[in-house]
Amino acid sequence: MELVHRPRRLRNGDTIRRMCRETRLSADSLIYPIFVDETLSGRRAIESLPGQYQYGFDALEDAVAECIHAGVSSCILFGIPAHKDALGSSAWAPDGVIQKAIRIIKEKYPDFYVVTDVCMCEYTDHGHCGALCGCHVDNDATLELLAKTALSHARAGADMVAPSDMMDGRVAAIRSTLDAEGFQDVPIMAYSAKYASAFYGPFRSAAGSAPSFGDRKGYQMDPHNRREALKECALDVEEGADIIMVKPALSYLDIIRECSDAFDVPMAAYSVSGEYAMIKAAAQAGLVDEYRIMCESALSVFRAGANILITYYAKELAQAIEKGDIG
Ligand code: PBG
Repeated sequence: MELVHRPRRLRNGDTIRRMCRETRLSADSLIYPIFVDETLSGRRAIESLPGQYQYGFDALEDAVAECIHAGVSSCILFGIPAHKDALGSSAWAPDGVIQKAIRIIKEKYPDFYVVTDVCMCEYTDHGHCGALCGCHVDNDATLELLAKTALSHARAGADMVAPSDMMDGRVAAIRSTLDAEGFQDVPIMAYSAKYASAFYGPFRSAAGSAPSFGDRKGYQMDPHNRREALKECALDVEEGADIIMVKPALSYLDIIRECSDAFDVPMAAYSVSGEYAMIKAAAQAGLVDEYRIMCESALSVFRAGANILITYYAKELAQAIEKGDIG
């Protein structure tokens, strides 16, 4: 058979396959989500996320040590406060759950990179991501609360803040507040194209942040939309976002690709709780090979154009990369 092109030549053996890989992964690109509960001592398994835990202050050092041991050098913190109210005031309390957690981590591990999720939903008694006006989340009133919260995280020593609320204008509000207080070097990773997704289900029970009425469709994006993601990213970049994010990841690979092509800032993707829980459940049912599915899913996110991946599998992935199973 006369065939000029035989793509199989480059697949003929492990060495040549590895040489020709188009996508390279590094543990440096992984961020691990850590849930901190200020009422807890030790760690408590999260039922909706097998293998994940909520950590009390006394268990945080161990949580970080496990990351470092696995080769993960960054986390994103989510707080579960003892006290909730209508405005979510413990979100910006100087001795709030996240503020304390940052100090504990930084004292022992000053080089471990701490990102904080900036949102009101874990702190409000109604579970929405901002201040309410009737049944509606009041955009402009919420900006001030978010900016105060981000500032208090920076004051406690956060390396980067990540607003996940989807209010209009939050990046500008946070940037100007941080700058005015001397935190011009703290970057903002904006959850720019965050969709109103069913994939957040397991997270909401883990963080106790499900809305008590209604849903988040009035502020998070409609999954039908693609061009709107470009608009959201453009606005965030204009307002000063250093990193933009698409969330969830797996059902939104097209959005990751388009946004990473369109903007010259690093692109993050969040492989959310439902994505993790689905792989776990399928593996537990004996339907798929968890390790290989984990690797392939993460790989697809980077192939789509992400530079940074937030994932509950961060530690396992870092190990897989080190072993050469992916990357
Ligand atoms: C807070 C926030 C959520 C997630 C990250 N930050 C929940 C939500 O928007 O309802 C979801 C993360 C996950 O599902 O893993 N607003």
